[in-house]
Amino acid sequence: MCGIVGAVALRDITPVLVEGLRRLEYRGYDSCGVALLHDGVLTRSRSTARVAELQAQIKQSALGGSIGISHTRWATHGAPVTANAHPHFSRDEVAVVHNGIIENYESIRAELKRAGYEFVTDTDTEVIAHLVHQLYRGDLLTAVRRAVSRFTGAYAIAVMHKAEPQRLVGARHGSPLVVGLGEGENFLASDALALAGTTDQIIYLEDGDVVDIELRRVQIVDAAGVAVERAVHTVKVAAGGAELGPYQHYMQKEIFEQPRAISDTIESIESITPEQFGDGASAVFAEVDSVLILACGGSYHTALAAKIWLESIARVPTQVEISSEYRYRDSVPNARTLVVVVSQSGETADTLAALKHAQSLGMKRTLGILNVATSAMARETRMQFITRAGVEISVASTKAFTTQLVALFLLTLTLAKQRGLLDEAAERKHIRALRHLPAALQAVLALEPQVIAWSQQFAHKDHALFLGRGLHYPMALEGALKLKEITYIHAEAYPAGELKHGPLALVTDQMPVVIVAPNDALVEKLKSNMQEVRARGGQLYAFADADTRIEPAPGMHVIRMPEHYGALSPILHVVPLQLLAYHTALARNTDVDKPRNLAKSVTVE
Ligand code: M6R
Repeated sequence: MCGIVGAVALRDITPVLVEGLRRLEYRGYDSCGVALLHDGVLTRSRSTARVAELQAQIKQSALGGSIGISHTRWATHGAPVTANAHPHFSRDEVAVVHNGIIENYESIRAELKRAGYEFVTDTDTEVIAHLVHQLYRGDLLTAVRRAVSRFTGAYAIAVMHKAEPQRLVGARHGSPLVVGLGEGENFLASDALALAGTTDQIIYLEDGDVVDIELRRVQIVDAAGVAVERAVHTVKVAAGGAELGPYQHYMQKEIFEQPRAISDTIESIESITPEQFGDGASAVFAEVDSVLILACGGSYHTALAAKIWLESIARVPTQVEISSEYRYRDSVPNARTLVVVVSQSGETADTLAALKHAQSLGMKRTLGILNVATSAMARETRMQFITRAGVEISVASTKAFTTQLVALFLLTLTLAKQRGLLDEAAERKHIRALRHLPAALQAVLALEPQVIAWSQQFAHKDHALFLGRGLHYPMALEGALKLKEITYIHAEAYPAGELKHGPLALVTDQMPVVIVAPNDALVEKLKSNMQEVRARGGQLYAFADADTRIEPAPGMHVIRMPEHYGALSPILHVVPLQLLAYHTALARNTDVDKPRNLAKSVTVE
């Protein structure tokens, strides 16, 4: 959600702090700020505008220094105004940046107020600065360790004190934090991506770790205060991974990257084998009698499609739960269930907590379908399938979504094969279909001009309905999510057969109704549902497979999908829905990649 960068060096590290923020900005962009310590004085620059503006502000004020911290914020406590922007100071001696939430901040705040500390923000973070200040006795590490022992909630923090001009202290609990190792200089960040181009030598801190960082020394202590060694990883994040290239927005770039992302994800797959999901997967899969998928947002929609595949192709009873509901629900655990978490970031707090909850209920057979190999969920799961979408910057997920679908389809085929439900011919057919997907997607992407024409009409609407059936209902959900997320048009999705049970009352000639219309077993039923809309004057916009015989007519707009793609059809049908949201957002002039109120990776509850 928020982003942290910290550096201690012998050179001016302002460019590292600002470039790191630029790379993390997509995670949270309500405000940003930098604090530097120079000649014994702590100074800061903060802005509610974007990092580019902060950079200009810094240049103008000639801010600089060889030790500093910086932050991009997604507001949890306190409005997105400059006063609430990080870094936060305590008496101009301590500076702090923080990701996450300090749940017990109110009681600590009251206590610190009684001790004479003045609070100037509405944030939970300010208590960290003041508490560290209060506990400081000449050793920042001890002060931070004592402070974090008081906190409940999830956090990653970076702290500096003006009395120790070559020392940074970081701590994490429930929010990611990494250390970057340099030559005579060291760094902190909430993601290795922030340090791309600066260092590729990365230590992933574990929950409870507190790290003491100096120019030539990095020392980590665990939650018990014991000095620990954590492995150093060489993390190759392409410094250009965050570049836009010829595209106008990351979302557009990522939509058009989907053929490549899918082809990379299936690159090494010659046949269906459990080992694609990790060592020992064969034994684990043989023991399970059901699947439970936990996910949020778009990832939850992929799980809904996977349920249909898993039950129809692999005949495995499958349950799908929204992570934030599952973790607080009194459910009936089954130790033989395969628990699958689906998450692009692998850091989503709700899904991580749901996974831990399932584990605490005795469900130890866990699999992560993730796009980030170094994420918390990758460390927390027994097996992993890492999609190869590449870094996804736009808040609206696109290439991560379709590669998740590919991974879940592979899981389906693997379980089907292990249960004797996939003969050689069927396996070959599915692999052929997967291999042909990138080309099929190119043909769908070529429909863009037709989608642009529709988007001009959608741009003037306040509401939209999305209908689908079976495997394509989750795609309708995804289309509606994309539209509301980046255009702010109110959109709802329904299984088409459900329309007459209530939502039909909303249909007027002002209500565009998007139909996801593959030529599957339910197409005739879908056509009847479409008639119900037309009879009420509703405007239909159908993405229809060529052989559906759904024809254009007054009130009936049709874009022909190039070919029907059987079980994998949702992967094709979701793409024009992404394009529709994208071009409607362009027409409405919204901030496509950084929609209001949202953030890329949701690491708070
Ligand atoms: O990183 P995750 O896949 O766990 O994220 C889950 C949702 O927050 C995410 O899919 C969100 O709904 C997207 N912005 C959808 O475009």
